[in-house]
Amino acid sequence: MCGIVGYVGKRDCTKVLLDSLAKLEYRGYDSAGVAVFENSEIKVSKSKGRLLELKNKLENEGWIDGCCGIGHTRWATHGEPSDINSHPHGNRRVSIVHNGIIENYQKIKKFLEKKGYTFESQTDTETVAKLLDYYYDGDPMYAIRRVVAEIEGSYALGMVFKEFPNAVYAVRKDSPLIVGVGKDEAFVASDVPAILEYTKDYYLLERDEVVVLKNGKAEIFDIHGMKIEKELQTADFDLEAAEKGGYPHFMLKEINEQPNAVKTTVTPRITDGMPDLSECGLTPERLTRYKNIFVVACGTAMHAGLVGKYVIEQLARVPVTVDVASEFRYRDPILCDEDLVILVSQSGETADTREALRLSKERGADTLAIVNVKGSSIARAADMVIYTHAGPEISVASTKAYMVQISVFYLLAFELAYAKEKIDREECMRLTKQLLRMPDTINEVLQKSEQCKYIASKLVNAGNLLYIGRGLDYALSMEGSLKLKEISYIHSESYAAGELKHGTISLVTDGMPVIAVATQRKLYEKTFSNVEEVKSRGAMVIFVTHENIKADSKTVDYVIGLPSVDDILMPMPAVVPLQLIAYYTSVLKGNDVDKPRNLAKSVTVE
Ligand code: AGP
Ligand code: GLU
Repeated sequence: MCGIVGYVGKRDCTKVLLDSLAKLEYRGYDSAGVAVFENSEIKVSKSKGRLLELKNKLENEGWIDGCCGIGHTRWATHGEPSDINSHPHGNRRVSIVHNGIIENYQKIKKFLEKKGYTFESQTDTETVAKLLDYYYDGDPMYAIRRVVAEIEGSYALGMVFKEFPNAVYAVRKDSPLIVGVGKDEAFVASDVPAILEYTKDYYLLERDEVVVLKNGKAEIFDIHGMKIEKELQTADFDLEAAEKGGYPHFMLKEINEQPNAVKTTVTPRITDGMPDLSECGLTPERLTRYKNIFVVACGTAMHAGLVGKYVIEQLARVPVTVDVASEFRYRDPILCDEDLVILVSQSGETADTREALRLSKERGADTLAIVNVKGSSIARAADMVIYTHAGPEISVASTKAYMVQISVFYLLAFELAYAKEKIDREECMRLTKQLLRMPDTINEVLQKSEQCKYIASKLVNAGNLLYIGRGLDYALSMEGSLKLKEISYIHSESYAAGELKHGTISLVTDGMPVIAVATQRKLYEKTFSNVEEVKSRGAMVIFVTHENIKADSKTVDYVIGLPSVDDILMPMPAVVPLQLIAYYTSVLKGNDVDKPRNLAKSVTVE
């Protein structure tokens, strides 16, 4: 997720671009750049780091004086954050900025290299820039049409062409773009906040529509060049609200971004219907070499590792040990070069996880990082890295990062199980297909937010809660419990449902909420017996299970029914109501949902 802006008008374009990009900083980025026409030449300035560094560079190396251009803040997916990988990309004839992931860029790059093109950066975007140049013969719309027909993946593109020094072009598929219209000036941007300082009026650009900004105006065409009349929108929210995409909190925005986050994380790692993690060096040969797998992480990332444990052991029959990093570091772990240590971290900067990585390498184990922030410390230090593509996660409570972390564990488990001949190709493809369809399944569960809000209203005055489950449901209940605790400040505890009767059930009093997760059908009867045990002691039971399972209404007070997928994949739909219940409970308590007390988004201290 990055920021794209384009401007034509009478103002200082470079200043407009920098100010507009600053309004998109909430989207997270690691580098920035601009391409502005000056004396009919495309002038580019770009650098790794914050917008301030780009501004200082422009002031020191020469401000670009012009009134037409494009700007970008990059959230790296292909190639480390660096000056050369920053956008814009192109040459003297064309320059582009891109938001998204081009899934077939390697194939296009090989084609262009045969045509004599050379590449300076590691990005997928530079391939698009050179392909645009390849097709550009003086007609921007023709070149755009050819490029859009050829590239696969998600994109929003801002483009300038040297022979059209007063125009900005933009086109999109999946990644958003809006078109701002002011008095004798026009804008294109990834999101409304970028234009609010200048205008509240904008058009929504739909898939494969092309906008041309010139002479202070915006014209929108379909991909074949037919002009399109659009309905003008007017922003009715302030800047701060707009940064949340109209959601009241980043957490709710990020919960709702989960379908797309899974899509952008999983899709590029599937080749011919089979999981393919070779991009990070995890070939089947290397994968099958490991005798033991360790997963080391903190908080929610550790909970994702617990799901990974169950899935890898169940499918691939390889032992997996899960540790919190702060414990792993000091328990003198027994590791050797036949072991794989997987470090999971959204930020890639968590101190305990980073130190656990260092210790693992010292002890000779191979290390794999599953990280969301490109170029972060843990990503750079690990032997191998699989980046999740959830986009920046702003809310302290981790939601979409957890979802994409477990989606990577599924890919790993499927590939490992197939490589070890524990499942055949047909079964591997069947499971992989379910994973590919997961964005739609998650979207279905997101429609239950009102029910979750209602259930939250029953929890808001609770003193203590229990989350219970067995197997994968137990792993999931840990994440549900942490979500509730950290943002609602209500004490809750996750407990193995079968273990309750060995002491903890003494806590159950009349009206005490118990959230029981029962998605594992082979364990359903056992879990339901535990639910009956707590119910008989007065608990208020919230039951999370498959929508086609009819639980006895005398035993459960509220039921959240989920769309059914294989039990092994149920954590993905099942975590969503747990996230929403925590979110709405926090809102009802009037807490600062995105910045809960005592917590930081990234714990970079021990
Ligand atoms: C989760 O909601 C918390 N914000 C916290 O437990 C977090 O998961 C943990 O600090 C690990 O952070 P990381 O994924 O950035 O390493
Ligand atoms: N995939 C492109 C890159 O890695 C664009 C990433 C983004 O959306 O910022 O440069």
